[in-house]
Amino acid sequence: MSYPTRVKLVEVGPRDGLQNEKQPVPAATKIELVHRLQAAGCKEIEVTSFVSPKWVPQMGDNAEVMAGIQRLPGVRYSVLTPNMKGFEAAVGSQPDEIVVFGAASEAFSQKNINCSIAESMERFAPVVQAARAAGIYVRGAMSCTVGCPYEGEVAPDKVAYLAKLMKDIGVQHVGVADTIGVGTPIKVRKAIEATLQHFDINDVSGHFHDTYGQALANTLAALAMGVWQFDTAIAGLGGCPYAKGATGNVATEDVVYMLHGMGISTGLDLDKLVDAGAFISDALRRPSQSRVARALLAKRANAPTCEAA
Ligand code: HMG
Ligand code: MG
Repeated sequence: MSYPTRVKLVEVGPRDGLQNEKQPVPAATKIELVHRLQAAGCKEIEVTSFVSPKWVPQMGDNAEVMAGIQRLPGVRYSVLTPNMKGFEAAVGSQPDEIVVFGAASEAFSQKNINCSIAESMERFAPVVQAARAAGIYVRGAMSCTVGCPYEGEVAPDKVAYLAKLMKDIGVQHVGVADTIGVGTPIKVRKAIEATLQHFDINDVSGHFHDTYGQALANTLAALAMGVWQFDTAIAGLGGCPYAKGATGNVATEDVVYMLHGMGISTGLDLDKLVDAGAFISDALRRPSQSRVARALLAKRANAPTCEAA
């Protein structure tokens, strides 16, 4: 079996990771997190979302966070925009990429963005058109590609249908999301195969939440198909406010450890990622969800000091 030799990770911790936090997280903490992530080598960072602050209060500081980041050359910053209002608010922040987000299940579309799948495409189409006219890259997130919190199992033909709709409106890349982390490798493979009916392998990424502890296995299954782009969240932060009980994305540290152990390069510095994860976990006053980070922090704590040696 051959795997890609290099993988691109999109760090979604500041957005997917923090959007579900009940406690207010100051904009300064979010900005510091982005700075630490880019210091660890992250070249793609999903920073925030331009959604309704009534729906997702935690992202209400979107423009402040975007304005506060000291951008590094070579790093691309993306934001979520569900409609023209969101796009118009986002464009002043000069994102490199915008993300429209739809769902393979009707019920999740209604709960998450308050419209049907067909209506979501009507809202996204002008966003995609405006973004591309402005030279901004457009990614489409496809939620609930294996399971839905309201409808249960989701068939691959629904994924293929959503991928076609995304393609038809001009979305350039799609992320196959297991929003509630119920997927297992063969189901995830089928969702990706359905997506590949409409998108090239180079325009498809994996976005796996780790609720049932399957996200690394699902990542490996996708890698074996040739997928080389994944969304991950530092310290395994997060969840979706409209997918109750779903935990965070697969932890960046865990994916990087696995990939580096397989000889696959990411351009990321695992020690610095662990530091960034420790920073945000301390700020949220909770342990990291990353098994690798916990192991490496324990190893650091137990390492003999110079005096003891
Ligand atoms: P709506 O109520 O249908 O929108 O919400 P509307 O157009 O009828 O407007 C209602 C009010 O919202 C108006 O304000 C608008 O101005 C305002 P009012 O007159 O009542 O004061 N509004 C906005 N305000 C700020 N920014 C906007 C915006 N649009 C309308 N962009 C809407 C539709 C999509 C806005 C709403 O449902 C919403 O904000 N949903 C948030 C969904 C969300 O952020 N979910 C989490 C992200 S998706 C995710 O996590 C999944 C992903 O990780 C992949 C995976 O894991 O599956 C990507
Ligand atoms: Mg997500």
